[in-house]
Amino acid sequence: HYTASSSADLSSTHAFQPHYFPDGALAIDTDSGRVVACGDAESVLANYPGIEIKTYDNALIMPGMIDTHIHYPQVDVIASYGEQLLDWLNNYTFPAEQAFADEQYAAATADFFLDELARNGTTTALVFGTVHPQSVDAFFSASHQRNMRMICGKVMMDRNAPHALCDTADSSLTQSRELIERWHGKGRQQYAVTPRFAITSTREQLEVAGQLLKEYPTVTLQTHLAENLDEIAFVEELFPERASYLDVYDYYGLLGPRSVFAHGVHLTDTDYQRLSESGSHLAFCPTSNLFLGSGLFRLHKQPHPVSVGLASDVGGGTSMSMLQTLSEAYKICQLNGTSLSAHEAFYRVTQGNAQVLGLDHCIGSFNSGNEADFIVLDLNATPLMQRRQSTCHTIEERLFALMVLGDDRAIAATFVAGQCLYRKVSNKELSN
Ligand code: GUN
Ligand code: FE
Repeated sequence: HYTASSSADLSSTHAFQPHYFPDGALAIDTDSGRVVACGDAESVLANYPGIEIKTYDNALIMPGMIDTHIHYPQVDVIASYGEQLLDWLNNYTFPAEQAFADEQYAAATADFFLDELARNGTTTALVFGTVHPQSVDAFFSASHQRNMRMICGKVMMDRNAPHALCDTADSSLTQSRELIERWHGKGRQQYAVTPRFAITSTREQLEVAGQLLKEYPTVTLQTHLAENLDEIAFVEELFPERASYLDVYDYYGLLGPRSVFAHGVHLTDTDYQRLSESGSHLAFCPTSNLFLGSGLFRLHKQPHPVSVGLASDVGGGTSMSMLQTLSEAYKICQLNGTSLSAHEAFYRVTQGNAQVLGLDHCIGSFNSGNEADFIVLDLNATPLMQRRQSTCHTIEERLFALMVLGDDRAIAATFVAGQCLYRKVSNKELSN
């Protein structure tokens, strides 16, 4: 696992020094679901004699991976052909999201989605529902039942979308409030105020979003920002009185340390400055930015340092695997003339993403007292991975091959709050 102080300069390689134990042990208290200790197996076991031991040979244990932007209803449109953002929304996404008016359908999809997250080694995510409040009830019921730490919100959208997917400024206020009262802080569930993006909200509705953030100082804000050039032109048409797309959100009080803006592919220096000084976060969605042809996000060499999370953005994104997300992030950095090291990459999908979500005090690392969300990785999950691992000499080389070649097949087991949620059935077990 990684630790970096909140003041860590992420441009320095020293920020990503791992705590790596070749023969390590993670001691957990299964009653509280928390980490007790992490370190060399010999010293951990000496300190806790008599504890029950489970051994994983040739495996790597690390904190559960975190996804800072994903849409659970969009598992139905992942891999839809031929469009960029606005046409993709109108032709594929909006029709699919209408099915979530049916709570049964929403519940079945939430089950599927959370099982897939676990199978991919993701233990926490910041998640979009649909405009229907029942889509969020269904999601939180399913995540609460699994004891997964999840942040989700009902989409607020009152224009430029099909009538069946529109709420109003008033109804979005009432419905968001009811959901916050019902779910925020219940077990490991947290609420996110979720205006979809500036195109689909009136001024009145953006005001409501700002009002909700004032009313509930611990909820998250999630939305989309500056993803695609046609989108940006449309926002400028809709809000001629504002200086930029980001300035629309700024004007309605939506910036700050609890805010996560997905994409931010096309930002001005002034936008970076406002994001930086307000402590807002961006979510970098590499597979989505490539799939929808949105552009190349600048992870490094920003004009002003902005905190960045990594995210799949399924269904604009093409994989629920954060390993695949890292692989595509690496390639985008290559095209921008920078490099994403394995240590930076794995820091970012664990501790870094926890920090983006304001959760680094409880998840993202194996500090004692943290919630015991962790994964067991099989670095030799495929013949090619096995062959490549055999030529690796350092943990950094191993992790780099894992992030480039790995996916759900590399996840041997996923634990949340000390309980096993997913275990891969090995080929040996299948043949017995
Ligand atoms: N902008 C507004 N809505 C969406 C969405 O569902 N996905 C993506 N990638 N961008 C959006
Ligand atoms: Fe998105």
